[in-house]
Formats: sequence, structure tokens, C-alpha cells
Amino acid sequence: MAPLPISSIRVGKIDDVQELIKTKPNKVPERFIREANERGVLVSHKTHLHHHIPVVDLSKLSKPHTHDDFLFEILKLSQACEDWGFFQVINHGIEGGVVEGIEKVAKEFFEMPLVEKKKYPMEPGTVQGYGQAFIFSEDQKLDWCNMFALGVHPPSIRNPKLWPSKPARFSENLEGYSKEIRKLCKRLLKYIAISLDLKEEKFEEMFGEAVQAVRMNYYPPCSRPDLVLGLSPHSDGSALTVLQQSKNSCVGLQILKDNTWVPVLPLPNALVINIGDTIEVLTNGKYKSVEHRAVTNRERERLTIVTFYAPNYEVKIEPMGELVDDETNPCKYRSYNHGDYSYHYVSNKLQGKKSLDFAKILN
Ligand code: OGA
Ligand code: NI
Repeated sequence: MAPLPISSIRVGKIDDVQELIKTKPNKVPERFIREANERGVLVSHKTHLHHHIPVVDLSKLSKPHTHDDFLFEILKLSQACEDWGFFQVINHGIEGGVVEGIEKVAKEFFEMPLVEKKKYPMEPGTVQGYGQAFIFSEDQKLDWCNMFALGVHPPSIRNPKLWPSKPARFSENLEGYSKEIRKLCKRLLKYIAISLDLKEEKFEEMFGEAVQAVRMNYYPPCSRPDLVLGLSPHSDGSALTVLQQSKNSCVGLQILKDNTWVPVLPLPNALVINIGDTIEVLTNGKYKSVEHRAVTNRERERLTIVTFYAPNYEVKIEPMGELVDDETNPCKYRSYNHGDYSYHYVSNKLQGKKSLDFAKILN
């Protein structure tokens, strides 16, 4: 989430979806209606229960009973990263109060009157604040979602004017939560390094002062979930993403697996982790950033709190030597500064895995 210069991008009128459903609950404005081919097939989760994203038990990695237990869980992790790019973690050790606290203030934030939220606007071409990100033209379709995004770490990426004074204790909760998620990301990267036969500090040493940003996504109910998308298909530009779904959340996140949109069924007290573009490049495509999107629900709203964890902007990214072999596994991505990729990512609309073309070596 590198800052972009405030520009004169014309984005047209962007309806606030929470306000829209208050006044015209049964009408979906044209700008939200997707082409039939964009909506894709909605897969019923009942018929696809076997198609479950993997679940990794972090307690088996941090406090394994036996070394075999540890190796078994590492294997599960590596298969999840290779085959799915997504997994849920349970027994992650983050206290319930921290998770509930952030959910509470996020919910209270979105429930505030629009005038209050508009004090923290996401200006066109920028990615922090309240509004819709990734809109660059007047005819671009809109997502059925309100977002509130903030740079968190290092402090130099913060825009203090956008940290809200209301609801009470918003900032304290976000600080505390972000610290815990940061620790979790470091632990996960350690286990990911082990799963790749690398030394465990590999990513921590490479990333320097890692960049951390948070985005809260609020998806109000939509009378025609079949016509709209909550969030356009994309992969994340991060190294790792941690997604928290509100308690008792309905299904909303879907990932593209074998050309089918597979729903991620929320598990109590679990966090959803996904591999971002940066790990895909570093592992020369062994671990994949998988395309995903969010859909809406006819009756229920949904709230997610998403943390993006990435290397420092100065860090040079390229496939790691250990994962490249000129004969059998040639290098698939060029080298670049993470900051340049981050800038490229946020200055283009979300469009599947298109952002990664930036780094691909085409032959
Ligand atoms: C994201 C994302 C999915 C969701 O914010 O990058 O993929 O379910 N969110 O909110
Ligand atoms: Ni995402």
C-alpha cells in the first residue's frame, strides 16, 4: 500500500452501499451490475463440502508432542501453500479479547453516520481511508463493499489524519491487534521457510522492517447477490495476508481452484491465511498467490478485517536461488524493488492475477 500522489483521477459518482440500501433496498444501480461472465458460477457449499481449504493447527508447530507431529503439520502447510495458496489456522494463540476487540471497533466504525466516516476519506488514487479503492475511471464497475484501510507499520506509512477519533479506543484496539498479527506473520513465515527447506530466519532477515497495512471490508446485504460482486477477483500483492471474518460470518470469500469458485467456510476462532504475490515470486511459483473474490448475501452483512504483510519497500525481490534450477526449474520472475511492485499494484484496478505480469519473465 505505497502512497500514491493525490491526482486528478475522475472516478464518477461512487454510491456508498450502506446508504444505498437504506433508501432503495431493492434496487441495484447499473454501476454495480457485473457482466454475466464476470459473476462466474456460484458454487453451493453444501455440494462441495469435500472441497475444503486446508486447516493448519499452529499448536502442533509451536508445541508439538513429537517430531513426527511437527513434520506432519509442516507437510500440511507446504501442501496448502502449493495446491491452494490458502489455509485456515487454528490454535494460533491470539487471545479472544484481541480478536473480538478489533471486530467490535470495526463494526462500530462502519455503523457510524456517513458524515462521520467521511472525515477520513480515501481520495481517488490513494488506498488509505474510507471509501472504495482501486477505482480509476468513471465507467469502472463498483464492488458492493465499503472499505476502511490504514497503513500501520512502519509508522512512516501512517497517515495520522485518517486514524479515527471515534469509535472510542479504535486506535488502541488496532495497535494491539496489529502487534499480535505481526507476530503471527513472523511465525508463519518461519514455518513456511522450514517447509521450503530454508533456514527459518530467511524471510525475517530478507524483509527488513516489514510493511503492514489493514483493510476492513464491510459488505452490506444485497437484494441481488447474483448480479454484483462484494470484491472483484484479485490476488494480494503482499507476502502473506491474514483475514479475520466476523463472528458467525456467512460465507463470502471464494477462491479460484481448478476454474471453480470454491467458498471458504468460516471456522470458529480460525484465521484465513493466503500467500501473496511476493511469496509466489520468491518461491519461483512453487507457492502460489491464488485469485479470490468476495460475494454478498441477500439477508446478512459481512465484515472482514484483512492484514497485508509485506517486505520493506526497499527490499529487492526475486526468486530465491534455492528454488531456481536453470535446467529443471528456470527463473520465472525478474527482480524488482518491493516498493515498485506495491506502487504498480495499487495504481491498477483489481483484475485477477494481472498485477503479477509486472514481474513475469515471458518467453
Ligand atoms: C482482501 C480480500 C476478502 C474478503 O481484502 O484482499 O480478499 O472476504 N478480502 O473480505
Ligand atoms: Ni485479497
